[in-house]
Amino acid sequence: MSNNLLGIRELDLDQIETLLAIAADFKVRIIEGRPVPKITDKVVGMLFFEDSTRTRVSFEQAAHYLGLKTANFAAGASSMSKGETLKDTILTLRYERLDGLVIRHRMSGAPNLAARFFAGPVLNAGDGMHEHPTQALGDALTILERKEKIEGLKVAIVGDVEHSRVARSNAWLLSKLGASVNFVGPRTLMPPNSSLLPGRVYHDLEAGIEGADVIICLRLQRERMAEGLLSSSGEYAAMYQINQRNLAWAAPECLVMHPGPINRGIEVDDFTADGEQSAITAQIENGIFVRMASLYWVFGGTVAEVMA
Ligand code: ASP
Ligand code: CP
Repeated sequence: MSNNLLGIRELDLDQIETLLAIAADFKVRIIEGRPVPKITDKVVGMLFFEDSTRTRVSFEQAAHYLGLKTANFAAGASSMSKGETLKDTILTLRYERLDGLVIRHRMSGAPNLAARFFAGPVLNAGDGMHEHPTQALGDALTILERKEKIEGLKVAIVGDVEHSRVARSNAWLLSKLGASVNFVGPRTLMPPNSSLLPGRVYHDLEAGIEGADVIICLRLQRERMAEGLLSSSGEYAAMYQINQRNLAWAAPECLVMHPGPINRGIEVDDFTADGEQSAITAQIENGIFVRMASLYWVFGGTVAEVMA
């Protein structure tokens, strides 16, 4: 049976734990040079309608480790430039006999639309302000490695929550795994309906990160921001930048995370981004293993088969 991976919100605990267990097993195998299960009979379309470095390369790398073939699709070089719609593009790729799709799109819900018209599994690689499920899975794997368990942890998600799909996917995932979540940022960058999200809202950095075990810094998503929401990046940095001075308000050994790309000197300072408490490079590497697990799982792979 195949699955879609459209968002964390609709996954149950069992599915999240399965994906994380498969990813952890794949990581050990890759690092030790042991074989991983192969899916050599499938071709997956890589549809990146928005720019990406980490997500695109790690999906390619994950496919490579699994023996999957990929078909790359550049929107600018496709017949979408002649006016073809997303629906017709997806139907075309379906009848080109692709087996799966990885899709990133600026519109929230684009992967859900793709799943309606495509015949095989669809994986969301980030849609608008909605979800970025594989980012949250990679972040959870990183936290588990450093803190052993997520239940009971205090996590602060700091910055442009309104425009961040990373904030939403992480909040759903970490709260489902038993962490408490604080959203911290200026009023203009908080969603108007934040009470529907699993977390408490703070506008004061000290109160929001006090005692935090994990801080997830968010980039200012200027590409999705209406003008006038921020007076200046400098003023934002003065109030919400994570640096050595304010890290002292968090718990000792608080993990500092950032999904990337980083605006150094704005949401986090250089010293903290590169310091001992930073997990940013581990997040990048774990992105490969959770994307391997996701591709394996959407094509019907189970934990039992991996552990066999
Ligand atoms: N790369 C992440 C995303 O695509 C975070 C960011 O761009 O700030 O959502
Ligand atoms: N974290 C993340 O999604 O990075 P990219 O936008 O570079 O893929």
